[in-house]
Amino acid sequence: MNAILVASNRGPVSFTLSEDGSLSMRRGGGGLVSGLSEVAKDLGVLWVCAALSDGDRGAVRMAPGGRLDQAGYETGALRMLDIPPATFHRAYNAVANSTLWFVHHLLYDTPNRPHFDARFRREWESYQAYNEAFAMALAEEAPHGARVMVQDYHLSLVPAMLRGERPDLRVAHFSHTPWAPPEYFSLLPDDVAAEVLEGILGADHAGFLTARWGGAFMDCCETVLGAQVERASRTVTHEGRTTRIGTHSLGVDGKALWARASEPDVESHMAALRAQVGDRRLIVRIDRTELSKNIVRGLVAYREFLSAHPEWHGRVTHLAFAYPSRHDLPEYREYTAAVQRCAKEIEDEYATEDWDPLILNVDDDYPRSLAAYRLADVLLVNPIRDGMNLVAKEGPILSPGSALVLSREAGAAVELGEHAVTVNPYDVSATAAALHEGLTMPEAERVRRGALLATAATALPPHRWFAEQLDALG
Ligand code: G6P
Repeated sequence: MNAILVASNRGPVSFTLSEDGSLSMRRGGGGLVSGLSEVAKDLGVLWVCAALSDGDRGAVRMAPGGRLDQAGYETGALRMLDIPPATFHRAYNAVANSTLWFVHHLLYDTPNRPHFDARFRREWESYQAYNEAFAMALAEEAPHGARVMVQDYHLSLVPAMLRGERPDLRVAHFSHTPWAPPEYFSLLPDDVAAEVLEGILGADHAGFLTARWGGAFMDCCETVLGAQVERASRTVTHEGRTTRIGTHSLGVDGKALWARASEPDVESHMAALRAQVGDRRLIVRIDRTELSKNIVRGLVAYREFLSAHPEWHGRVTHLAFAYPSRHDLPEYREYTAAVQRCAKEIEDEYATEDWDPLILNVDDDYPRSLAAYRLADVLLVNPIRDGMNLVAKEGPILSPGSALVLSREAGAAVELGEHAVTVNPYDVSATAAALHEGLTMPEAERVRRGALLATAATALPPHRWFAEQLDALG
């Protein structure tokens, strides 16, 4: 039996069903998964995740007890939960991604949304049922005294539910997102707000990427629950139990990243990109198309930069990679369309026969992203709000002489802000000026700052991030 368990919505692998009915397996996407996968393999962790697609469901239904490793897949110990699709959809799309994600990233257009009505109550019940399914599976799989590491806002109720079933376990919860301040968190219906906080307080240890997000969580516990918060020792005591609040920043395994970025597929993308843009300077951004990533303001800032600095016309290209994300949500589809409209306006205004001011790409391509990092002169990372942002850390590792323009609202700004050009993500003019500053920064200065950025970015690779949380559980 395994003594360490991990639970997350998205698992380390996903399956696709092809037309002939066969299943093919590939690695799951996203920052959380890529960080955890290596660690989980090395430590022999048992991972519990949800089936996200018909392909996943097909694979689970053929695996004894949902254990894909026991069905012959090389996944490491993995149990995938076949939660009824309608329940899953309401829990993942309606509650986790349209409500909790919006709250923590401050994304609501409050005159119009949110509406917590009867429909939301049904969605909330599904979120409870989905969390319950995870708690039950963990309770079944965990040996006595095991350590259980619960990940993210999808599973905020699991720690309390699991404690109810299995008081012998040591439970940690980790939030990969920011945490909302109390006045914004309190948009949630009172009972829902309390249930989310009490859910996480079921853990012995609640981890956050920065002290700011952990501080906001403690503020919410105090304001919403009236819990006793000790800021110096970073503990929250509520109804006789104490939870420790930890700060665990997440960085990049620099060696592994370089190894991947030196492979031939990346090199050939570099050659193709170079052929496309010639010797022009490159401003690069790489994001999933999330509302929180602030891609439209980034493009508007580039347009303002072009308008203020005609001397750069023909000498610079902006490579903007905005990869598909959460397309089940209408807001995300509309946002992708807004990004495309804005890009087209810039092209219409500035493109000439021999100059493409902007290359927007909306299809996911990992080796091409690595190639873009390696070629970047300026990397733009301007989220409205972000738990950490690993792009800001990967870029400086792969492009040591590039300048980083970084939002002060990204968690990564705590470690990188001093050596980056930091911006207020809402201030388009300041972002335009920062792009200019990045492009005109003397090379020696860029190299000096780049080395400091890369050192900070690799200081806490996923192995350490995970090990520190295990240690915190004792
Ligand atoms: C980003 C966030 C994570 C989150 C993940 C989920 O990477 O930083 O907090 O777990 O998105 O994305 P998904 O594609 O599974 O909705």
